[in-house]
Amino acid sequence: MPTPRRLLATGFAVTLTALLPAAASAQGNLTVYCSVQEEWCRPMMQAFERATGVRVAMTRKSSGETMTQIRAEAANPRGDVWWGGTGDPHMQAAEENLTVEYRSPRMSELHPWATRQAEQARFRTIGIYAGALGYSYNTTELTRRRIAAPTCWADLAKPEFRGEIQVADPNTSGTAYTMLATLLQVMGEEPAFDFLKAMHRNVNQYTRSGAAPARAAATGETLVGITFLHDAVTQKIAGAPVEIVAPCEGTGYEIGSMSIIRGARNMENAQRFYDWALSAEAQAIAGQANSFQLPSNRNAPIPPQAPRFENIRLIDYDFARWGSAAERTRVITRWEREVRAGAR
Ligand code: F6P
Repeated sequence: MPTPRRLLATGFAVTLTALLPAAASAQGNLTVYCSVQEEWCRPMMQAFERATGVRVAMTRKSSGETMTQIRAEAANPRGDVWWGGTGDPHMQAAEENLTVEYRSPRMSELHPWATRQAEQARFRTIGIYAGALGYSYNTTELTRRRIAAPTCWADLAKPEFRGEIQVADPNTSGTAYTMLATLLQVMGEEPAFDFLKAMHRNVNQYTRSGAAPARAAATGETLVGITFLHDAVTQKIAGAPVEIVAPCEGTGYEIGSMSIIRGARNMENAQRFYDWALSAEAQAIAGQANSFQLPSNRNAPIPPQAPRFENIRLIDYDFARWGSAAERTRVITRWEREVRAGAR
């Protein structure tokens, strides 16, 4: 039996050895796949590192691309957390068993739309922000071309917009998939595909990333860019000559989401990040990084520039249906075959 004195000494040694390697390696590592803008990904990861001492390796990719990557890595997962990006591919990842259930103690701090997303995905994903879809146009270029200002989705199929519209590719971009699902819900499937085929003649480029068309509209590289409204706001407050449109027929929205990847190597830190990312303090970083989505934590500040849902004609977006693997795959495949493959 060790004497009480030795016990004390041994206890001290154990505590020290437990502390030393922990301090040396900080609090371990975390790999995050980030699907918002790089400008928001970076300060978010830095703030988490500062708050916890965990070292974060972050990769930024669009929502659809990240889903494809997580699926390709399923046998040997490399990522721990997928943070940000539109909810539909997160829902599909949940259905395909690529992500795991986690019930954060912070769930009670969130808006109902964020927790509903979690319930629909059996708690394999959760809402972290929301934002409505629409488009922006360059006012200088519009005046120069003497085109009447567009206000509706239908305007984007008009011949005067030939070669003037930019939107992302739904294979890689969650924004572009949200547009497809929105138009199908607003117009009905057949009229929506007729519209998409007509608009295809006006599209100058299908970009990889969803927010890129807002930047292109800001510089005048394209006349119109279809994006989430908050991505256009980022350009407008930077001084770009753009007008932002919430289309007259009504529009859809995203519930930007977060999921923990099945087989995460750093599961404890993944849960730590998840809880932290749902906090009001962490969500306040968005506005500081010029990202103007609506935060899911009820106590997080809403950036004054964020487009408010009360002022937009929003549809009752069916996230369960359009986030299902079968629908997402079917709609994108049909778009590839009937729209993308068509002549311009
Ligand atoms: O960060 C801007 C943003 O529009 C998010 O609101 C959205 O979830 C994400 O980008 C979608 O990006 P992408 O269309 O490239 O997948």
